Amino acid sequence: MRPRRTFRASYFPYQMTLTDALARPLRDLRISVTDRCNFRCVYCMPKEVFGKGYQFLPKEQLLTFEELGRLARVFAGLGVQKIRLTGGEPLMRRGLDVLVRDLAAIQGLDLTLTTNGSLLADQAAALAAAGLRRVTVSLDSLDDAVFKCMNDVEFPVARVLAGIEAAAAAGLAPVKVNMVVRRGLNEQSILPMARYFREQGHTLRFIEYMDVGTSNGWRLADVVPAREIVRMIDAELPLEPVDAAYRGEVAERWRYRDGSGEIGVIASVTQPFCADCTRARLTADGGLYTCLFATTGRDLRGLLRADATDDEIRDAISTTWTERTDRYSEQRSSETAGLHKIEMSFIGG
Ligand code: GTP
Ligand code: 5AD
Ligand code: SF4
Ligand code: SF4
Repeated sequence: MRPRRTFRASYFPYQMTLTDALARPLRDLRISVTDRCNFRCVYCMPKEVFGKGYQFLPKEQLLTFEELGRLARVFAGLGVQKIRLTGGEPLMRRGLDVLVRDLAAIQGLDLTLTTNGSLLADQAAALAAAGLRRVTVSLDSLDDAVFKCMNDVEFPVARVLAGIEAAAAAGLAPVKVNMVVRRGLNEQSILPMARYFREQGHTLRFIEYMDVGTSNGWRLADVVPAREIVRMIDAELPLEPVDAAYRGEVAERWRYRDGSGEIGVIASVTQPFCADCTRARLTADGGLYTCLFATTGRDLRGLLRADATDDEIRDAISTTWTERTDRYSEQRSSETAGLHKIEMSFIGG
């Protein structure tokens, strides 16, 4: 195994750099465009909490595409180089390609999206035509019984695979696939997933199950450490480490020694990466959060709708970022686990 995290090159050296209290630059913005999802993944939106009576955000509370476009430009002016659209399930937001077209017009921005893939076969071509460059698709198993048990809405694997194919065919490349691993649920899917996506030429990343939100009943014992996953794959398909592609990359990269592709592991529980965390998050109702595990955010919608100027919005974002001290994953303990944290489906992963 190798020492963690070395960087190949400095990252856009000429752009504005806003740094937080721990000297971390603001580089990525993750925008949740809806808090709704058509899946009920047991580790994210368990049915007991997100059942029929659950109150999702009413439409008027969602940021409009105009508001999102305006905020995205202010963030880009502050040094943001990548925007990832998330949810809930982002493809459930009607007319998303209209927003993509607007954001794709921002110079120098890496624009991408994380989806559960269920609606991707229908939308991939329109999203690519609108200027989306690549996508990340979540898929936790190739075994229908296991996958259905995890998404909890009887959704079949084949339709997600069709979404991945459609994305690749539309040129949304590289397609990355995210698999959350939960002990006792889908460990047996690790090797079949690795074999399949190596064959297909898509990068698979294994995510350690995290204690996001308060609904999923997380226990440390349910986490399969990334080291164990790497060891398991390496035993059958020998691996070697690859340097991080950029500062703040969350996935630790490994490539197959025979040159047949690579995998990643996202070890936010066993090897936290807060020291290089460059990510801000915007909820669908315009809350600015500086940590995936935050308990509170800064309301930007209020500012937008009170006719604030771009300078005022820029100041609010700058102040929030420069005061930031978050390092939840490094501080995780029995006390932090009990905090009333925002839900993953709301903050967008
Ligand atoms: P690219 O390198 O642009 O492809 O994306 P990425 O590596 O940032 O991956 P992605 O945005 O898909 O993130 C993958 C997963 O890593 C997320 O779904 C989260 O589960 C986890 N993750 C991402 N960012 C953070 C973070 O800031 N903190 C923690 N604890 N987990 C994160
Ligand atoms: N732990 C780790 N990853 C999670 N995701 C959702 N909930 C969790 C959790 N508790 C992942 C999804 C998807 C991304 C948005 O976040 O599987 O890939
Ligand atoms: Fe939906 Fe993604 Fe959460 Fe699953 S992990 S319930 S697909 S938002
Ligand atoms: Fe960043 Fe918070 Fe994740 Fe640490 S736990 S990497 S500070 S989002």
